[in-house]
Amino acid sequence: MILSIESSCDDSSIAVTDRITRELLFHRKISQEIQHAKYGGVVPELASRLHAVDLPKLLEEAKPYLDDIEAIAVTNEPGLSVTLLEGVAMAKALSIAKSLPIIAVNHLKAHIYSLFIEKPTRFPMLVLLISGGHTMVVDVQDFDRMRVVATTMDDSFGESFDKTAKMMGLGYPGGPVIEELARKGDPDRFSLPIPLKHSPRIAFSYSGIKNAVRLLVNEHSPLDECTKADIAASFQKAAIAHLLQKCKKIFKESNPKDFAIVGGASANMAVREAFAALCGEFGARLHLADLAYCSDNAAMVGRYAVDAYERALFVDAMSLSVSPRSSDF
Ligand code: KG4
Ligand code: ZN
Repeated sequence: MILSIESSCDDSSIAVTDRITRELLFHRKISQEIQHAKYGGVVPELASRLHAVDLPKLLEEAKPYLDDIEAIAVTNEPGLSVTLLEGVAMAKALSIAKSLPIIAVNHLKAHIYSLFIEKPTRFPMLVLLISGGHTMVVDVQDFDRMRVVATTMDDSFGESFDKTAKMMGLGYPGGPVIEELARKGDPDRFSLPIPLKHSPRIAFSYSGIKNAVRLLVNEHSPLDECTKADIAASFQKAAIAHLLQKCKKIFKESNPKDFAIVGGASANMAVREAFAALCGEFGARLHLADLAYCSDNAAMVGRYAVDAYERALFVDAMSLSVSPRSSDF
């Protein structure tokens, strides 16, 4: 069995995965969304202190499995250094106390492996990763060969939802609240610019939409409920249109048979519907993780670690460190 730990941002999570059957035997998560909501975003130092309290609570719950653990998997990049360190410190302590190897897990690769929780791996696949920290398309050939095809030049897709919500005083995280509000709004009331619409460049950019939202909010303040919903709907429409437009270009070039969307923002139903249509148009199969595994969790970390264990990709507790950036992509 593999014990996995996730603390890259504002979710503390621990899982236990059977490395032979890939069965998820134990999975718990404590989200800090409520504590960060009043600041309109994650406060790293607060997040770190909450992990220091919550991770041991989860480990206590996982205690019945501890004697059967063969390796400790932990997210060590990319993410907030001060929160990654909490999970890594726990992994190191367990590794030394129980003489267990450590598997260092890249958070972005773990998101890709959220597709395979309790399932066999399926490669090759073109993967769109949309989260609070990242927006990228990755050509995944197999465990060892993953290549970034497109990435964002500035803000990420999820971050643009968070910032839009913050500007309208709707708290954090913005994704679910904007999606909900957008259902009630008129997506055609405001015409927001589609980023890089006339550029051949295969990349994403969300800072322009964010500024357009800022202007709308200023112009219509104080916002009534109807205007808030119309801004949310118009914003979401433009944000998804941009994703679709650039992905369509990639589809035309690479004609993928299998396409997947992962990351916290892949829970968005309008995104799922838009990409189901795109995949239909190109005859590609669409793969999605269960809603429970879209946002950050230790189950996906453990599932990645199953494949890493088979390759004996272990790291030494003395040399393992954390990084805010991804060294793999
Ligand atoms: O993967 P994740 O849990 O953490 C990171 O690795 O960043 O993603 C969190 C992000 C947040 O920006 C959140 O607002 C966004 O995913 N998100 C959504 C939705 N649910 C979460 N964005 C759009 N629509 C949603 N339904
Ligand atoms: Zn994530």
